[in-house]
Amino acid sequence: MARKLTNNNAQFERAVQRLPLGVASNFRYWGADRTIYVKSGKGARIIDLDDNEYVDYRMGYGPAILGYADERVDAAARDGMQVGGVFALSTERELAVANRIAKMVPAAELVRFSNSGTEAVMAALRLARAYTGKDDYVILEGSYHGLFDAAMWFTPMDKWSQVGDPEVKPYSEGVPVSTKSFAHFVQANDANQLADVLKRHAHRIACLLIEPIMGNCLGIAAEPPYLKAARELCDKHGVVLIIDEVKTGFRVARGGVQELYGVKSDLCTFAKALGNGYPISVLAGREEIMRKIGRGVAHGGTYTAHSVSLAAAEKCLEILDETDALERICDYGTKLRNGMRGILAARGIAHSFVGHPSMSGLYFAHEPPRNYRAWKSSDYSFYDAMAQVLHDEGVLCEPDSREPWFVSAAHDDSCLADTLRGFEIAVDATLKSSGASHKVPA
Ligand SMILES: Cc1ncc(COP(=O)(O)O)c(C=O)c1O
Repeated sequence: MARKLTNNNAQFERAVQRLPLGVASNFRYWGADRTIYVKSGKGARIIDLDDNEYVDYRMGYGPAILGYADERVDAAARDGMQVGGVFALSTERELAVANRIAKMVPAAELVRFSNSGTEAVMAALRLARAYTGKDDYVILEGSYHGLFDAAMWFTPMDKWSQVGDPEVKPYSEGVPVSTKSFAHFVQANDANQLADVLKRHAHRIACLLIEPIMGNCLGIAAEPPYLKAARELCDKHGVVLIIDEVKTGFRVARGGVQELYGVKSDLCTFAKALGNGYPISVLAGREEIMRKIGRGVAHGGTYTAHSVSLAAAEKCLEILDETDALERICDYGTKLRNGMRGILAARGIAHSFVGHPSMSGLYFAHEPPRNYRAWKSSDYSFYDAMAQVLHDEGVLCEPDSREPWFVSAAHDDSCLADTLRGFEIAVDATLKSSGASHKVPA
């Protein structure tokens, strides 16, 4: 049943007078009649301005790993407030949080804080360039590393004709064309292609910047043998391996994807789950490289290691490290997949799941995709139509099939029951509106 969005729509009309697209981030604009404004969030649920309640699977694109307004983290943040904010000086807690990170992620020998994922990745790239004395970088098709010029070259697959290589385009106007030549694109899970690119261009390539579970591309995952090959190729060619764990860090395992897959980066970046929503990010890595910071490489920022974010991160990491929160998240994600699988299989709809149960991509084809090009052959129009009905039924996933479903420790049995009820309705409504063309035997 379609929701009432009267107050949301009225807020949009007012907001758009003052804020471009009526929002603070382009990704939050879902159209004049569907943009949602949040009244409050608690646990895994949010309530909008029309008092529609949703079980949320966006969780702020991942940060709310323990759920919204987690009382333990918020109490810690209030303690952090007592410290006083920012001083253009350091506080004791920085070391405590850095020590926890180093314990959880062995590759994080040294640690520096920033405020957002973008800032951390930007710093990692700069550091890799400084360390190697080279400017180019290799990046996977379908990965996302934030909104800064170097990371804003991408291969828009929706426009790809499935013949030849997809075009490399800027994600936005205003990105200087001169920055394009630094980026080399490869497909996930093709070690031969990576070997070839490095063989030909390693003299110019500073780093391989890799997001092993692509959190903005369904959760398409690099396979362990590919990562192992990537590690060896980087070592062979003097290329820094940067693993961007902004989404996977402290989520898919205590030590992130590096623990899950048994791979060690030279540099790695974290944000999202680090502070349960408080703005904080991390650049970490091998001592030899990290010691370049302050010895030729600039790093800093007025709000870096703010006492509120730092206190929130300290508590959030303590919970993730010392309780079974991540096991419960994985367990819920598995039950969610099983429930959806049952509903889809009963209707003969071909599907598969990608990524990790804590950040699952639902893909409408028999075989899970191994790279971004494969997404093109799935029935993403079915997903896009279904997502709209899910929203009406109180299940908030991203409207675009490429964003995975994020699970938090606050998702419980009642969330699961509400989700599967809404999912069944949404699948049936989408089948009805799209005809039988989507009924591929499972
Ligand atoms: C893998 C990855 N890196 C970097 C970023 C950028 O982080 P932020 O949005 O905090 O700047 C994101 C954001 O989604 C991300 O998923």
